[in-house]
Amino acid sequence: MKKRRTKIVATLGPASSSPESIEQLLLAGLDVARLNFSHGTADEHRQRVRMLREISARLGSHIAIMGDLQGPKIRIARFRDVQVILHRGQAFTLSNTHPANDGDEHIVGIDYPSLVRDCHPGDELLLDDGRVVLEVESVEEHAVHTRVIVGGPLSNNKGINRRGGGISAPSLTDKDRDDIRLAAELEVDYVAVSFPRYGRDIEQARRLVREAGSPAWIIAKIERAEAVADDAALDALIQASDGVMVARGDLGVEVGDARLVGIQKRIIQHARHQNKLVITATQMMESMIASPLPTRAEVSDVANAVLDYTDAVMLSGETASGKYPVEAVAAMARIAQGAEQEPMTTQSHHRVGLSFSRCDETIALASMYAANHFQGVKAIVSLTETGNTPLIMSRIRSGIPIFCFTPHPTTQRRAAMFRGVYSIPFDPTLYEPAAVSTEAIARLKASGVVQRGDWVILTKGDSYHSTGGTNTLKILTVD
Ligand code: G6P
Repeated sequence: MKKRRTKIVATLGPASSSPESIEQLLLAGLDVARLNFSHGTADEHRQRVRMLREISARLGSHIAIMGDLQGPKIRIARFRDVQVILHRGQAFTLSNTHPANDGDEHIVGIDYPSLVRDCHPGDELLLDDGRVVLEVESVEEHAVHTRVIVGGPLSNNKGINRRGGGISAPSLTDKDRDDIRLAAELEVDYVAVSFPRYGRDIEQARRLVREAGSPAWIIAKIERAEAVADDAALDALIQASDGVMVARGDLGVEVGDARLVGIQKRIIQHARHQNKLVITATQMMESMIASPLPTRAEVSDVANAVLDYTDAVMLSGETASGKYPVEAVAAMARIAQGAEQEPMTTQSHHRVGLSFSRCDETIALASMYAANHFQGVKAIVSLTETGNTPLIMSRIRSGIPIFCFTPHPTTQRRAAMFRGVYSIPFDPTLYEPAAVSTEAIARLKASGVVQRGDWVILTKGDSYHSTGGTNTLKILTVD
């Protein structure tokens, strides 16, 4: 069977932080490790990164690390007895002034003054990812009075969303700023920004990441109803970022589960058309937190995201705190690879009929057209500084592997997120200009990917170390 193209992001947590379990996750197919800054201490994250780097170096794999910022998730405070049970029809108050540890079945604190400003009678508030639903009856200066529509248990620090979105928390908190500095210290490859509303939220995050000295690429988590309200809002967020995550937890609560699947497909398509990455996330293998096998619906969910041509599928609780982290990665890898056998994943009408704006983009897309149509092409080699050229290539559906040839470890790791792209360390400056292409093909042959007589497509520019300079497409045979 062909090498798997869809990448796997797995969240590290208490269930996956020993050297043994990290090694097993890598062997099972992890491509990108996610650090969830909503949980765990800085030292726990430091230790995980140290183990990841050591083990991946030993195994010779180029895995990426993504730091995921907590963002301004709006939460209730805590209950005197940790949990209460709310009953349909009863009154329940959210209060800015109520003591934080003293909630009960009538009232609980919130650490978020503007909720009061953003709520109006008739609004529906969804707590704990929609498990509990409250209808706003009246709003006072420091409190929102509600009636319980869907009751059930409610425990400490559960999240609050409003149906339809529209809660105006700023996108980066003080904790996020600290975590950006931690992400830079840990040399993560991606920083994911939670709850962005506008392109400027992403630009601000990017500025802070650069100020902290990190070249990490910025992923916008699409999880607010406003972000998908129309194509212009969605495209502006995509444009400002290097990639997006379909963050289905909060997004599903705000837009309603019935709209979510269609919106997921739209986000994936829009991201790819703008040459950006896309990750599909949340509850993909949820039942595997407690069970060694996925349900049929979960298999279908992962396979559908793969057929939609997502770059990566992501695991959260399954690997962070579940009972079967390795099995979850292995199941995802198996399902992705199976779905990729379907011919629709290798045939492309990507941007046919549209014009291109850049030379490197034109070469990248033309290479894929050539690779998909010229029989005998076994591999595409892209000489790259930042990974941008293979990224553009991998926006197109294809069964031909794309090799990211770069001397830079940052780029080798970053490319672990790109669908169908695999890194091979290679420094063109070590060779005479006329010998670079043959050296690159020899390197590919040595890694066992191609053999004598195969065709290979190679792209590069006129000079080395110039990002954006790709202007050449070569078709070569292996000898
Ligand atoms: C390498 C090649 C250059 C090419 C560049 C593209 O440095 O030697 O000839 O121009 O990659 O890098 P990019 O970051 O645009 O993919």
